[in-house]
Amino acid sequence: MAQTWSPESWRSKPIQQVPTYPDTAKVHEVERTLASYPPLVFAGEARTLEADLARVSEGKAFLLQGGDCAESFAEFTANNIRDTFRVMLQMAVVLTYGAAMPVVKVGRLAGQFAKPRSADTETIDGVTLPSYRGDIINGIDFTPEARVPDTERLVKAYNQSASTLNLLRAFAQGGYADLHKVHQWTLGCVAGSLQGKLYEDLANRLSETLAFMEACGLNSETTPQIRETEFFTSHEALLLNYEQSLTRIDSTTGDWYDCSAHMLWCGERTRDLDGAHLEFLRGIKNPVGCKAGPGMAPDELLRLIDALNPDNKPGRLTVIVRMGSDKLAERLPALLRAVEREGRKVVWSCDPMHANTIKAASGYKTRLFDSILEEVRTFFAIHKAEGTHAGGVHFEMTGQDVTECVGGNSSVTEASLGDRYHTHCDPRLNANQALDLAFLIADQLKTERQQAKKALTA
Ligand code: PEP
Ligand code: CO
Repeated sequence: MAQTWSPESWRSKPIQQVPTYPDTAKVHEVERTLASYPPLVFAGEARTLEADLARVSEGKAFLLQGGDCAESFAEFTANNIRDTFRVMLQMAVVLTYGAAMPVVKVGRLAGQFAKPRSADTETIDGVTLPSYRGDIINGIDFTPEARVPDTERLVKAYNQSASTLNLLRAFAQGGYADLHKVHQWTLGCVAGSLQGKLYEDLANRLSETLAFMEACGLNSETTPQIRETEFFTSHEALLLNYEQSLTRIDSTTGDWYDCSAHMLWCGERTRDLDGAHLEFLRGIKNPVGCKAGPGMAPDELLRLIDALNPDNKPGRLTVIVRMGSDKLAERLPALLRAVEREGRKVVWSCDPMHANTIKAASGYKTRLFDSILEEVRTFFAIHKAEGTHAGGVHFEMTGQDVTECVGGNSSVTEASLGDRYHTHCDPRLNANQALDLAFLIADQLKTERQQAKKALTA
């Protein structure tokens, strides 16, 4: 890799997954426009997230990263944003309570628009058109007009991200996330379910604890941690001219930060060591992530860590493993051992979604809740066996009562997929399914904690 880095040094590297715009002059114009707009996040916030993730890498915290596979212009409403935020708050409470460990909340939100695709074109009934690449690039409708990449979409995505972040900041710090409201976060669709009842139980216990703490003088006024929460944003850094336009020098440190989100990650299809995406990510100082699919070999992972985190800074790099349960059991131990042997500090996160996508007989892309659950279980079991910390999870999920993934305690079956199938890309967990997983993970973390305690007293 070249030693000198600049926000545009990726342009001289081989690149994958780039859209072809009909008018290059317009692309440059929109890049200049975006570069003149305010940053969406501040460098200091990205550093706070990095410090939080450093605690995750040390086994003292847990990362919960989740949200849409692809945000869309059509589903951009306050209720959608609020409900995703709400279900993440609920999951975080379940995890914090079970694990007695801080939970770092990172949304796939406020910028998660661009999608890598397996094929450049899509054919339906003999008609072939360019693939849909996310609302920041082209439209999802299967028409030649919609599929033409449109530069106006970049500005629209920036504006939507700004509004989304504004609302998230208000929710996180304006009183909505006050722990005294723990009962009110329950979504209508969750209320009567098994997860709803389990959550209700936990919320009652939490309320009692809060009353006790209040009697001791710790309340929302005296203790900001009760009143507000930290919520960070993230997305895949796929559309590099967008990311470059929002990359700015931080005046306090003189370092470059990609101010489109707190955390950025590199996808499975664009993580070539000599490619443009890695070149871009290595130079920004935000915490970054990299997906690791079944093809990731231990020496390749070490080279990747060298490229993205040469100073071995804890919290800088999250390895997001997505292999499917069987391959995970075969391949994760060797990765963990290589990283431990070399003394590299990373956060290990489990994405149990992307290796478990199947096509239902009806044609819908779906995921079986049981396969997702199995991958999470395997991830925890391997970490337990290796003595490493299962640091986090990465979910595609929504607060809406969608019917996109099959099974769990939700009533979604293959036959009911069509009822409320709204995703613009991959199938997401609905609120019940997401909460169901949170309870399972809380149990696993509790075991990990008890084991660590036993080891200390032994
Ligand atoms: C994604 O996270 O939406 C995605 C495309 O993942 P991956 O790069 O792991 O396939
Ligand atoms: Co996806």
